[in-house]
Amino acid sequence: MQIVDINCSKKYQIIIEKGIIDNLGNILNDYSDVNKFCIITDSNVSGIYNEKIKGIMSKCNAEIIYYTIEPGETSKSGEVYLKIMEFLAKNQFTRTDMLVAIGGGVVGDLTGFVASTYLRGVDFVQVPTTILAAVDSSVGGKTAINLKSGKNLAGTFHQPVKVICDSDMFDTLPKDIRRDGFAEVIKYGIVNDKELFDKLSGNIDIEYVIKKSVLAKARLVEEDEFDNGNRRLLNLGHTFGHAIEIAAEYKYSHGEAVAMGIVIVSKAAVAEGFLAKKEYDKIRKLIQTYGFNLEPEFTAERLYEIILLDKKREGENITLVVPFGIGDSRLVKLTLEEVENYLIEGLN
Ligand code: NAD
Ligand code: GLY
Repeated sequence: MQIVDINCSKKYQIIIEKGIIDNLGNILNDYSDVNKFCIITDSNVSGIYNEKIKGIMSKCNAEIIYYTIEPGETSKSGEVYLKIMEFLAKNQFTRTDMLVAIGGGVVGDLTGFVASTYLRGVDFVQVPTTILAAVDSSVGGKTAINLKSGKNLAGTFHQPVKVICDSDMFDTLPKDIRRDGFAEVIKYGIVNDKELFDKLSGNIDIEYVIKKSVLAKARLVEEDEFDNGNRRLLNLGHTFGHAIEIAAEYKYSHGEAVAMGIVIVSKAAVAEGFLAKKEYDKIRKLIQTYGFNLEPEFTAERLYEIILLDKKREGENITLVVPFGIGDSRLVKLTLEEVENYLIEGLN
């Protein structure tokens, strides 16, 4: 078992252990004031784990209600959000009751947004079932739904009361979804954990990888919970990656786009004299080892056009995350012209 303590506005634990889901009913019994738990999941996860979850939850002393969403990003919508809110109200869910998100980042972000707004805020537990959810979305309290105008445009900060991560549940993940999570893991290595980066090219102990990734994120969340400073280092590869996702009309998965974004910004960092070529070669090689396609078919001009509309643009500037070494990424405030130049250098 691995335990990570998070100390931000709320203190909570992330518990990582093979098979820990079998103990979920008992773990939830620790919250003795809770009369009702609502388990929120998606139909892929419930298709695989429904019987198991029902069996496990029978050990819980409180009443259990279930809400299952359709899988996929389209469920992170205002419509689904309101349906869940109505479901909770109809089931007389009260302030002392608790939500439990069992699923990937979609289920986690949506449940977190419901938890932060239902009756002005109820508690929730995260049970991440994808690698991405385990290393990223279940930690740090960002919740969100999408608007028609863009992804994650409505959201809150609302930390869970606990994160329970059963690494056995990753065994049922489709290969591409498993790989996508590793783009974020590689990101942590480049941002602030060289030891993690070095371990990723050998045989992987998944519990170690999750613990190190969560610790890498925890350091930044504890320092900057509300994302005004160094937490933004977690955006490594995301500014260019996000532009690639849009240019490709989401043909590439988020993980693939982030992987390409990391390679572009790293190559530009070499051209700018910040990153040693040897380090760039290691980054590129590791990302290739995980089977990511590293040749986006877009010009710097096309990606720049999209970046001009980026919601993180600050007037005539954009703050980009730039690797100065493996485990040493920094925030660099660039003019728009400099960003275009980085794209040219990175895609060259
Ligand atoms: P996802 O939740 O859509 O899950 C991917 C797919 O895997 C889905 O089809 C799901 O049904 C399936 N699945 C989940 N667990 C499974 C399992 N154990 N076995 C088999 N299938 C399983 O996607 P994701 O990649 O987990 O998360 C992406 C979302 O996370 C995006 O909406 C993104 O915006 C959000 N996100 C949030 C944060 C944050 O800090 N809150 C950070 C990163 C990403
Ligand atoms: N996924 C980035 C963050 O939580 O800040």
